[in-house]
Amino acid sequence: MPSADRYRLMGHIYEVLARLYSGFQIPKCKEAMTSRLEPDDGVLFAGVGHGREAKKAAEMGARVTVVDLSETMLEKCRSNLDGCSLRHPVRHIHDDIFHLSPENHQYDYVFANFFLNVFKREQMERVVRHLAELTRPGGHLVVGDFAFPDGNVFARAFKHLYWYIAVSLFVLFTRNAFHDIYNYPEYLKKYGLQIAEIKYFKVLGIKLYWSVLARKPVEG
Ligand SMILES: C[S@@+](CC[C@H](N)C(=O)[O-])C[C@H]1O[C@@H](n2cnc3c(N)ncnc32)[C@H](O)[C@@H]1O
Repeated sequence: MPSADRYRLMGHIYEVLARLYSGFQIPKCKEAMTSRLEPDDGVLFAGVGHGREAKKAAEMGARVTVVDLSETMLEKCRSNLDGCSLRHPVRHIHDDIFHLSPENHQYDYVFANFFLNVFKREQMERVVRHLAELTRPGGHLVVGDFAFPDGNVFARAFKHLYWYIAVSLFVLFTRNAFHDIYNYPEYLKKYGLQIAEIKYFKVLGIKLYWSVLARKPVEG
């Protein structure tokens, strides 16, 4: 049984807030890798939220599964899909991502957009490993999120400040974990994936978001 809905309040304003805070770069970041999808690809959106990129994937003919612990978020996702005529109906799962077993769930693409940042470092690593297990050999795991700070001391300080304002809000309203910005490519590589592409998204000319595409090698 899913636990209490931490996005019961935030879930209603989440999308608008993300757009405004990022100068409309977050939606671009979340959709960045969907252009790679082919009809009939199996695609999982972990912690889907409002799911606009899931809708785009479904409209491209992908077989989309969305999972979220928050009923509020899933309801937003459902209403975004209302009235769409799709090649495959979207499968909604109201549950913890850890309850999807790799034996029954293997996807061509797994999207983790602004999902891994809700966890403490140790738990985040467990989630990365689990998402890698849900990705079929030869498939891809996509992480869209705040980019790891680089550049000169001023750029890095700005990126940290920008992140800490956002994370503080979510610690207060959704009890997300409080932590520094994670360097996702490092963890993706640690769990056996190869970095295939990184796209950056800038606000005021500063690289604040990235979409990281990681490939799971075919064993053997
Ligand atoms: C910061 S929001 C991101 C939503 C969406 N991916 C986006 O980019 O707009 C994180 C989402 O992950 C969901 N979530 C958190 N922990 C989860 C878990 N263990 N299993 C499934 N969903 C979870 C939350 O309910 C929330 O909808």
